[in-house]
Amino acid sequence: MDLLLAGQSPPILGVGLIGSGSAQAAQVISNDQLSQRVDTNDEWIRTRTGIGRRRVSTPGQSLVDLAAEAGRSALTMAGRSPQDLDLILLATSTPDDLFGSAPRVQAELGATNAVAFDLTAACSGFLFAVVTAAQYLRTGAMRRALVIGADQLSRFVDWDDRRSCVLFGDGAGAVLLETTHQDGLLGFQLQSDGSRGAVLNLPAVDISAPLVDGAEHRAGGYRPIEMNGQEVYKFAVREVPAVLQSLLKRCDVSPDQLDWLLLHQANQRILDAVADRLSLPRTKVLSNLSSYGNTSAATIPLMLDEAVRDGRIRSGDLLASSGFGAGLSWGAALLRWQGPA
Ligand code: ACO
Repeated sequence: MDLLLAGQSPPILGVGLIGSGSAQAAQVISNDQLSQRVDTNDEWIRTRTGIGRRRVSTPGQSLVDLAAEAGRSALTMAGRSPQDLDLILLATSTPDDLFGSAPRVQAELGATNAVAFDLTAACSGFLFAVVTAAQYLRTGAMRRALVIGADQLSRFVDWDDRRSCVLFGDGAGAVLLETTHQDGLLGFQLQSDGSRGAVLNLPAVDISAPLVDGAEHRAGGYRPIEMNGQEVYKFAVREVPAVLQSLLKRCDVSPDQLDWLLLHQANQRILDAVADRLSLPRTKVLSNLSSYGNTSAATIPLMLDEAVRDGRIRSGDLLASSGFGAGLSWGAALLRWQGPA
């Protein structure tokens, strides 16, 4: 990576989205299968969430495995080699190693010229990471960045809590960003409000353990996901339309100019409510909730990759995207998909 020296005025470059990829967790778990474990049923889950099944990693499938597979697939689509990368940003709340899993992904890919680090912002993580990576590219400090959203919430779900376990799944998605003349990141708005963060947590255990005479230390480890579903729902249907409307206004784009709405896949009712607030036809709202559920930082790139590969998203399409979730954190970006040359 080259450094910009103090006093040099940086160029402002366009950021192109030129490749996408994704990876699936190995096991498919249907709603009916979940009803073997908790008191639930397919009809309740589909009606309240739109989810029909989710993917869950096997014990032998690591977060790094999923993230590297998604990244490799994005590189292949873009026609770039791992050595072309300057940056790998891994958005995840569930690294294999709390010290960071991005360097392991870098090693798996053989991206020997890239610096790699993790970024944690729960379900907003992928969008926050795209915006972060774009700053390195815009200044000319870097040329190519692989942004990966990957999560394995199955490791932290309380599988005996029917109010939350039906929602989540595992997966990974990735996008390759490259400096170009045509800009693919037309605007963004990111927000956080930690004062409301208690509605959705994956908290550290709060246990004291003896250290030496007269001293204790805090024991490590995490409790399962704790969620107030109704409050998260209210937060999403209030803040997501607001941030999208604000961004579109600032970019002087009206909702009817959008080709696609690409939202974090949390609940079909949330997707429908946001589309209605923007007066967008539901045919423009991308959804794969029925197959994957909520894969946290992976949902947006996983959905993007699916729609690019099946031909729904085409080169030049304009997308409004919004991520939202724990933190609380939320944000929106206006994107133009370029695809491979
Ligand atoms: N199966 C059957 N019944 C259930 C289930 C289930 N899986 N879960 C809850 N119920 C019951 C409840 O016990 C309750 O029964 P009661 O009336 O006898 O007490 C009834 O169904 C209604 O429960 P509500 O919580 O009011 O159901 P609601 O319509 O709010 O749906 C849901 C719950 C699906 C969780 C919804 O609130 C939601 O989707 N919220 C957003 C959650 C979310 O997206 N979280 C992730 C955010 S992204 C991130 O950062 C990870």
